[in-house]
Amino acid sequence: MIENNLKHEFLEAVVSGLNAETRSLPTRFIYDDTGSRLFEKIMALPEYYLSRTEYQILKSQGKNISSIAINRQINLVELGAGNGIKTALLLEHFIKQDIDIIYTPIDISQAALDSLIKHIQPGFPDLKINPMCSDYFQAMEILKQEESRTRFVLFLGSNIGNMNMDNAHLFFNTLHNRLIPGDFVLVGFDMIKDYKMLNRAYYDSQGVTAAFNLNLLTRINKELGGHFNVDLFRFYSYFNPLISAIESFIVSLEEQDVAIDAADTIFHFNKWEAIHTEYSFKYSLKSIELLAEDCGFSVSRHFHDENGWFTDSLWKV
Ligand code: AVI
Repeated sequence: MIENNLKHEFLEAVVSGLNAETRSLPTRFIYDDTGSRLFEKIMALPEYYLSRTEYQILKSQGKNISSIAINRQINLVELGAGNGIKTALLLEHFIKQDIDIIYTPIDISQAALDSLIKHIQPGFPDLKINPMCSDYFQAMEILKQEESRTRFVLFLGSNIGNMNMDNAHLFFNTLHNRLIPGDFVLVGFDMIKDYKMLNRAYYDSQGVTAAFNLNLLTRINKELGGHFNVDLFRFYSYFNPLISAIESFIVSLEEQDVAIDAADTIFHFNKWEAIHTEYSFKYSLKSIELLAEDCGFSVSRHFHDENGWFTDSLWKV
């Protein structure tokens, strides 16, 4: 049933994206098992500095971050938890401070949650883990229920970068409504920097990011009866300074018709026509602070690496 709903959602998003004047495909559907594996590979790429830099921030400053939470009982809620490697660093610091902690990792992928628990639990045998397989907005519904513990919400890895400004505001406004004074949010932002470095991070020399984006076409073929010849499309991305985001595309290398059986439609593509696949927004300290304020949070402190490439920003309700 859930699978049917997901297939239906996928189909609707693909059809409306391909029928739009500016064509797009839904970013979140890149992450099937293959897409998630490719993203793990991206995180290990030499050009993709984001994950490594955030790891270093949490490793070197995790103690300061965790000591800001004064309540002895905490629900550590992680939205889009992924593999949990970075979270383990924070857990260590919370536990060292004798804080009674429940860990609530939330992810859309059950496979990701299973592997996270396999990674985390052996290192923390007494830790109570409360995994939830859900999207962000559904998950926020339950945040209100827990009253005695301070909620310390993690939204790491520059996941916020994949939302446009309207969605980022909607996301943090909704989150703010679910929390109460005294709760915290730690958000990972990738900072605006030399465009060359940004372009390299999203146009890597091994072509992993290309495969990651093109996986959308393979997934349409597999799940929706699509007839895309992936070799007739090419990945393209560039930093757009006017909106401060990397924009990613799949480009048609030929004029071609492609049928998608589940949609009962044939889509026509012109030569060099682009399909938008992803935004990765980059922030400045000023734009982080504006976003926090607009959504009712106050910034407690920014934690960043020595180059200022990435910031984990701690906000208070
Ligand atoms: C998951 N997200 C934060 C990544 C990013 O940097 O926008 C996804 C990604 N796309 C290409 N490379 C990595």
